[in-house]
Amino acid sequence: MQSTSCMGVAPGPTRVTTLLMAEINILGISAFYHDSAACLLRDGEIVAAAQEERFSRKKGDASFPAQAVAYCLQAGRIQAGDLAFVGFYDKPLLKFERILDTYLETAPRGFRSFLMAAPLWLKDKLYMDRHLRDNLGYDGEMLYAEHHESHAASAFFTSPFEEAAILTMDGVGEWATASLGVGHGSEIELFKEIHWPDSLGLLYSAFTYYTGFKVNSGEYKVMGLAPYGEPKYVDLIYRELVDLHEDGSFVLNQKYFNYLTGLTMTNGAFDKLFGGPPRVAETKLTQREMDLPRSIQVVCEEVMLRMARTAHRETGLDNLCLAGGVALNCVANGRLLREGPFRHLWIQPAAGDAGGALGVAQLIWHRHCKQARRVTPGKDGMHGAYLGPEFSPEEIARFLESVGAPYERLERAVLLGRIAALLAAENVVGWFDGRMEFGPRALGARSILGDPRSPRMQAQMNIKIKFREGFRPFAPSVLRERVSDYFELDCDSPYMLLVAPVKQERQIPMTEQQRGLWGIDQLNVVRSDIPAVTHIDYSARIQTVDRETNRTYHDLIREFERLTGCAVLVNTSFNVRGEPIVCTPADAYRCFMRTHIDYLALGPFLLAKRAQPEWKETADWRREFQLD
Ligand SMILES: [Fe+2]
Repeated sequence: MQSTSCMGVAPGPTRVTTLLMAEINILGISAFYHDSAACLLRDGEIVAAAQEERFSRKKGDASFPAQAVAYCLQAGRIQAGDLAFVGFYDKPLLKFERILDTYLETAPRGFRSFLMAAPLWLKDKLYMDRHLRDNLGYDGEMLYAEHHESHAASAFFTSPFEEAAILTMDGVGEWATASLGVGHGSEIELFKEIHWPDSLGLLYSAFTYYTGFKVNSGEYKVMGLAPYGEPKYVDLIYRELVDLHEDGSFVLNQKYFNYLTGLTMTNGAFDKLFGGPPRVAETKLTQREMDLPRSIQVVCEEVMLRMARTAHRETGLDNLCLAGGVALNCVANGRLLREGPFRHLWIQPAAGDAGGALGVAQLIWHRHCKQARRVTPGKDGMHGAYLGPEFSPEEIARFLESVGAPYERLERAVLLGRIAALLAAENVVGWFDGRMEFGPRALGARSILGDPRSPRMQAQMNIKIKFREGFRPFAPSVLRERVSDYFELDCDSPYMLLVAPVKQERQIPMTEQQRGLWGIDQLNVVRSDIPAVTHIDYSARIQTVDRETNRTYHDLIREFERLTGCAVLVNTSFNVRGEPIVCTPADAYRCFMRTHIDYLALGPFLLAKRAQPEWKETADWRREFQLD
């Protein structure tokens, strides 16, 4: 890895001293790459954070997060003029320098991608300062942090640790694609980086592209397919694509990639190496599309383990914080926890670029405003990631009346009892409660729930509700106090970012004949007493639910346990394939009506699908009901 001195947000004492008498509101913004977001910090506490896609209904929306900003200001009951600082999560000039430099180095080969990128950069990004001010109506101080410093800040400052090693890994920021650093109290320092074009995130994305999935969102599918395959390409990857060093740094052989110069991730040489062109999206998966994911997953885990060992050696600390898109690889995270030298691991739930909005705001508060950090041992600062919009019973009722949707309003205890019984009878329930989650995972605020004991649930939810590939596993929500009764895990995993095996005694070994089934056919084999959340390799992507963070959801699972003896629910995000997670009651109702979800719980209201009037899809549904 290369050594570096990271600059980031510099201290600026004079204005700060005058501001400290009043509340300090800091708005952080990430935008213009993917997954735009805004975050409001007040005196160091997170008031609100949300991704723009949830409001605009465009998945991975990268445009200026105008609606997310408006929501944050509204949640904080302030105007843009009340903000002490606005921070942007990376440095546009440095990023432009990287693009220009890449073009000059690869010219004339890179000219096509340069032509695509340059006008966008010149228009939207290079003139960021003016752009942000015009969009916000804000004329105060504007600060910029480096991309990986924003990731690192979001990982460490929100963690439950007084001190920790920090590892960030993603596609690319300005120049860095990974960084290694350390956090003490209210300070972070990054001391090593890996630079573009050597990128673990882009390597994984190259395989995502080649196996026929969408880059930046299909990586989860690659991870889900990996257990179906054999690691037969691992040696080839090390021999031809990745020169991996002992400390976790690596060099990618650009002969096989096209992201420097073209508009695709891989090229003809890559095709030749792996025996043919990339799989065309939506076509049948073959054994190759299982062996490739398994192989790249093995390589990714090895790189992360080596980086973690280096971080441990260089810092001598027992705690590790992770962020950056690669930190969403929860299978690798599970291995880091089990095998890595660190005793404790904390991963920022909004590990992708959305979390940068939080990170830059925290850098301004701690570094620029020189404010100390308060750490509560064992407790992070994310409030369960429930940082988005919420809706009062009156607002929900008004909406339901406006669309003529029949509903029952129930007392909380009655509602939870009814839902638990419906779930136990194999109904699928849309669950909308409290503040929306920040980050890519639904954590029991905007979730679709099911009974994990049902052998039919996984296929039913994938095909009839999510309209997605049948191979994709579902995640369990389990009572925190019962996690080790079900899984080989005995720590908090509140953000569904750790994968661990289902407890040995709950596993049902496959017969010789079942083992002989090909790929996805194995999915229908019941592999444990919670088959709907047991992946093909007996693993599960676990969310632990504690009562302090999400009381209602915890009480619901407890009610389900009282009824069935099972302290686990299937929890999948409340959306259909290709759509962002629902935000408003209107989004939830629409998703409910467009799918085979049987019941919908909207706050204190319960709706049965069979009682609803016939659903007519209109193109302008949100405007029609004045929902924006
Ligand atoms: Fe990033």
